[in-house]
Amino acid sequence: MGNGLRTLVLPAVDARLIEALRAATRVVVLTGAGVSSESGVPTFRDRQSGLWETFDAAELATPSAYARDPALVWGWYEWRRATVLAAQPNAGHRALAAMAGLVPQFTLITQNVDDLHERAGSSCVVHLHGELSRPYCEGCRQGYAHAPGVPELPPGGKRIEPPRCAACGARIRPGVVWFGESLPHLPWLAALEATRACEVFLCCGTSAVVQPAASLANFAIDAGALTVQVNPNQTDLDASVTVAIRGPTGMVLPQLVRETWPGA
Ligand code: OAD
Repeated sequence: MGNGLRTLVLPAVDARLIEALRAATRVVVLTGAGVSSESGVPTFRDRQSGLWETFDAAELATPSAYARDPALVWGWYEWRRATVLAAQPNAGHRALAAMAGLVPQFTLITQNVDDLHERAGSSCVVHLHGELSRPYCEGCRQGYAHAPGVPELPPGGKRIEPPRCAACGARIRPGVVWFGESLPHLPWLAALEATRACEVFLCCGTSAVVQPAASLANFAIDAGALTVQVNPNQTDLDASVTVAIRGPTGMVLPQLVRETWPGA
């Protein structure tokens, strides 16, 4: 038996995708939590464990949850940060970093708050939902630097009182976008502009249900791009994209790069 990478057969329609990718000058990729799941970072739909077992991730990722119980929410984000710091980029992250060097204009947009794309070699990643590594003050919005290294936590995580801002004394908050908050303006504009101009748009490892990020796929469809959904599970987007590839990104993306640019 091989390791699965060689045995995966892309659907016949992918000849069209491969041709389109080879010919394209502008390619956009939108990633979601599924791309990091093969690195051991749980998605938002996975059942939570440890102290967070009884909480829905979507309930913790809100301004009202932070206002109600800051130690619970800060502790949860520290636990996620520790998970990410201990994780390594996977073959899917690396394939996207390689693709950037093979397409004249390549834009990588992510909903992920981890840095696994960057650690795989991608640069200028457009982070639509913020970054775990960039907390800031709720009061004066000044950035806050985490202590270096991985936070020491029990396996199930723990409640942690958030630090206070050295400048104004207000509470520090995680550097992520919560449900009900607006996306950061410049990343959103960059994402929109690249999406409206691209010839191929790949949606990778996202349930494509959280707005407005999910609407990017529809903008690409409306703009006439060849659109692709890569996900091991069925999603609502499958019916509207040009090509729906059912498989994990850690397997599909390296194969796509190999077949599109053999020898690269
Ligand atoms: P979700 O957790 O909603 O969806 C993850 C998707 O990844 C699912 O559709 C899975 O089927 C798929 N998946 C799982 N393993 C995979 C693999 N190995 N390869 C490819 N796909 C795989 O995550 P997102 O779509 O990223 O927002 O969620 C979007 C936003 O909702 C997140 O950024 C976060 C969340 O709540 C905020 O926190 C604001």
